[in-house]
Amino acid sequence: MSLDNDVIEADFRTETIKLHGPEGFEGMRRAGRLAAECLDMLIPYVVPGVTTERLDTLAREFVLDHGALPACLFYRGYSHTVCISPNHVVCHGIPGDRTLREGDIANIDVTVIVDGWHGDTSRMYGVGEVAPRARRLVEITYEALNRGLALVKPGVRLGDIGHAIQSYVESMRCSVVKDFCGHGLGKVFHDSPNVLHFGHPGTGEVLKEGMFFTIEPMVNLGKHQVKVLNDGWTAVTRDKSLSAQCEHSVGVTADGYEVFTASPAGLFQPAILGA
Ligand code: MF3
Ligand code: CO
Ligand code: CO
Repeated sequence: MSLDNDVIEADFRTETIKLHGPEGFEGMRRAGRLAAECLDMLIPYVVPGVTTERLDTLAREFVLDHGALPACLFYRGYSHTVCISPNHVVCHGIPGDRTLREGDIANIDVTVIVDGWHGDTSRMYGVGEVAPRARRLVEITYEALNRGLALVKPGVRLGDIGHAIQSYVESMRCSVVKDFCGHGLGKVFHDSPNVLHFGHPGTGEVLKEGMFFTIEPMVNLGKHQVKVLNDGWTAVTRDKSLSAQCEHSVGVTADGYEVFTASPAGLFQPAILGA
């Protein structure tokens, strides 16, 4: 395939789900790894008193220093490298002069572009000592992602994955956010399919080898309802309950899946879980 074809074909969101070959897997491995390394790099800086803006600057410099582009910068009017979503912020928290405080939990979400390929990942950070109920929420959210991931292979349907996540989360008396979902990605940031974190077994798209998408459940300690603040981005829980999220970019292989955004240092699941 010519380079021109490749770029034209890959640059648009399409209704049909793109199937990628070895080159795509190679590109996604590099993008996913850099995104994970960016989140690893931030760990020692997530301490009481740090501003979210400072963390964003560190992330932006890291991404640019590695010859990559921050996908969120200038994406639909967004003007930062990462989203930072503390406590009752569900997702898309905008970095600014807010400082993180002892006991906060915060999601940091980064998407990098390496040679056109998107690596999209987020995880939870604890600031200092974190209360047991917040740790429990974070644990449930990781487990929800892992239960979804574990199902990924050709022939499985997206509804199977959504159902596994939702039924687990609700069995723990938490709720799954319905207003945001995972997404296909590759050379396009947000592509088909929508990956819902709830649903019914045996429904939805059938997974095929070569599909790339994210799974990124948002889990609330209270009710599932969210609202978006006047800034047009920040989504918060309506009942002000704590919310957590974690996200991996994955590819469907012949007999399972490959996680592109695993932490090379094994730091995806934070230390707060062991405490
Ligand atoms: N990284 C987010 C996702 O998981 C998207 C953020 S878009 C932004 O899809 F513009 F808010 F940064
Ligand atoms: Co995403
Ligand atoms: Co993301």
